[in-house]
Amino acid sequence: MLLGTGGTIAGQAADASDNVGYTAAQLSIADLTHGLAEPEGMVLVAEQVAQIDSKDMDDGVWRKLLARVNELLGDESVKGVVIAHGTDTMEETAYLLQAVLNPAKPVVLTGAMRPATAVLCDGPQNLADALAVAAWPGARGVMVVFAGKIHSALHVQKSHCYQTDAFDSGDAGPLGVVEEANCRLWQPWPVTGNRSVLINALLKAARWPRVEWLTSHGNATGRLVWDLLAQRRLQTQSGADGDPVRGIVVAGTGNGTLSEGLIQAFEEAQSQGVEVRVCSRCARGRVVSGGAATVFDTLALPPAKARLALMLDLVARA
Ligand code: SIN
Repeated sequence: MLLGTGGTIAGQAADASDNVGYTAAQLSIADLTHGLAEPEGMVLVAEQVAQIDSKDMDDGVWRKLLARVNELLGDESVKGVVIAHGTDTMEETAYLLQAVLNPAKPVVLTGAMRPATAVLCDGPQNLADALAVAAWPGARGVMVVFAGKIHSALHVQKSHCYQTDAFDSGDAGPLGVVEEANCRLWQPWPVTGNRSVLINALLKAARWPRVEWLTSHGNATGRLVWDLLAQRRLQTQSGADGDPVRGIVVAGTGNGTLSEGLIQAFEEAQSQGVEVRVCSRCARGRVVSGGAATVFDTLALPPAKARLALMLDLVARA
């Protein structure tokens, strides 16, 4: 199954030499399959699930995608799922699908850094590679396949805002590479199989818990946190359905350290029942607990994934 959600891979510019001034999510997933060879013995079925620039990804689209992928994974005739997705939030979608579905079949996300109209568009090769990985015997788990590399959902991050080799698995490195439809693995496929019970809760919930993500920086006073708490108090007192904040993830400096202003603000947040988790704003490495930030719980994930992890944790405890 090939699911379309939009992104640059489906983007169009007025001029073939324009790599940046384009509009994402213009072509349908059916358009993107032209010229794509079906893996031997398999039939490729394309389906449009959404049509967005992934900067606008929201809980509604994630819910739809989770429901559809969950359904497909339970269908014996489905060997694997490929999702064409914008690169900007691809790692978040990959993490969410992995954390909730933990699939024993391959679910492969891919996209492009150049629009479909570009002279040197990277989408067709990425899509062909993703399809090859999804059809590969033994492939399992949620992965991102990009620029010839196979990344696990847990470790992958978008690490470049322009180059076509835009994804990286940090210290863990990629699982392997795909070359001319052949996978060469450097690490085993992820261990998967036990689907989380969260899928039902997520699909049933009227709204997923609101979790915000803030970053520590020089002159970080904590004022944003106090503003969030004031807003929360007003929403709670008035009984208005204003979606009060339930959790905050903070990307701390270095090994998850926070300014004194932020520490005070987050202590107050915690005392008011807001869950606080600390991760690091550093592009590589994960917070090693035991340091200064241990006054709060830490998450060994980059901030975008940590935000989802806390949201899932709150759903699990509801
Ligand atoms: C998007 O994330 O939808 C736009 C950017 C991209 O796909 O590279």
